[in-house]
Amino acid sequence: MKVLIIGTGYVGTTTALLFCEMGHDVTGLDLDESKLSMLKSGKLPFYEPGIEDLLKKHLNNGTITFTNNVQTAVKENDVIYICVGTPESKDGSADLSYVKSVAESIGRYINRYKLIVTKSTVPVGTAKQVTQWILASQIKSIPFEVASNPEFLREGSALQDALHPDRVILGTSSHKATLLLKELYKNLTCPLIETSPSAAEMIKYAANSFLALKISYINELGRLCDKLGIDINEVSKGMGLDHRIGNSFLEAGIGYGGSCFPKDVNALIQIANTYQSDLSILNTATQVNQTQPLYFFEKIKENTGDLNHKKVAVLGLSFKPHTDDVRETRSLFIIDYLKKAGAQVHTHDPIVNISLESTVQNATIEETVRDAEAVIICTDWPQYKEADWNDLKDMMKQAVIFDGRNMLDRDKMRSMGYKYYGVGR
Ligand code: UDX
Repeated sequence: MKVLIIGTGYVGTTTALLFCEMGHDVTGLDLDESKLSMLKSGKLPFYEPGIEDLLKKHLNNGTITFTNNVQTAVKENDVIYICVGTPESKDGSADLSYVKSVAESIGRYINRYKLIVTKSTVPVGTAKQVTQWILASQIKSIPFEVASNPEFLREGSALQDALHPDRVILGTSSHKATLLLKELYKNLTCPLIETSPSAAEMIKYAANSFLALKISYINELGRLCDKLGIDINEVSKGMGLDHRIGNSFLEAGIGYGGSCFPKDVNALIQIANTYQSDLSILNTATQVNQTQPLYFFEKIKENTGDLNHKKVAVLGLSFKPHTDDVRETRSLFIIDYLKKAGAQVHTHDPIVNISLESTVQNATIEETVRDAEAVIICTDWPQYKEADWNDLKDMMKQAVIFDGRNMLDRDKMRSMGYKYYGVGR
């Protein structure tokens, strides 16, 4: 099949390459020239393990091409995926202006039946809205259908998630559209769930919000465990082995960041508000998440005393490992609190390089922790697990560690002579 992917960001490019792997001919369309020239030369405009090799492979065998010519691209392809950004508006709802402008271009240039599919995370009812936008910009009436096929890619493991999904959601209004989408995914072995476009849109928000809820639940339980002297990791393990609960997304820490969870939870709250439906459980999850960095900082303060003019080492800036994304990253909140307390903050991240005011970024873990009064782990990069903590201890002024991701072996750290503090343990 010939597939057009509009928007070559992280979701669009990963989806495009998945369809190449499934044996389809794919065109990636973007108006951003610098992004296009990078992609054409086999380079990714974002960091995502494994994707660049796949890009090179499909550029070489000609299964993927890139263009900025909207008119030709719309005319030549039968299935068009909308993968443009849906940033958060001031009121928390998703801003659909990019989706609208793509829909209008499709309406203008449509020349025969097309299946238009939204991949971006969009509010319930967007498929209907896109249909209206296309109809309004058509010059003559040509049949088309709008379907919803949400993505569930995690940054850092997008390739794995795309090639081995738990399920694929096909939200369509006709058998014809379902068959087309099934053909696209024909080589996957996971369940293909057939549903309506609106239900597909809701599944995406409901799934992400549920995962966010799970994290906030374990974090709030962690606060109680701190008071009771119980290890939250043991509680998570004991709970998670119940297959009805499951052990993933039950890791207590300094909260969730990234471009999806905070934005999608807010968007679902907005949708509920619009329909005067109560989803206050999500307000609570958000509130727990927003206060979790402060909760952890209080713990740091309580156990280090006055931080004024003291060097502290913050390990990890990205919102999670294997990505350079710092959107909504919890570490920046912690760094802010530390700076306000007068601390001299030194940071380290294996790939993120950002300049933060009154903060020193070091290239190595050793430099970062040297003479530090405390180490604070904000991202669970494997490098921090593998670090030689015995050696590092001798470089630090005080062997104190605050593990914001509960990633280190507490007993081992203590036996090395560290004062170890986790979240909820
Ligand atoms: C998420 C969804 O997982 C994915 O399906 C969707 O398509 C996009 O949003 P992503 O934001 O890339 O993916 O990261 P994810 O791995 O889900 O982690 C999100 C945040 O939750 C990170 O900050 C992570 O550190 C945190 N987290 C995750 C926890 O604090 N505890 C956990 O147990 C799991």
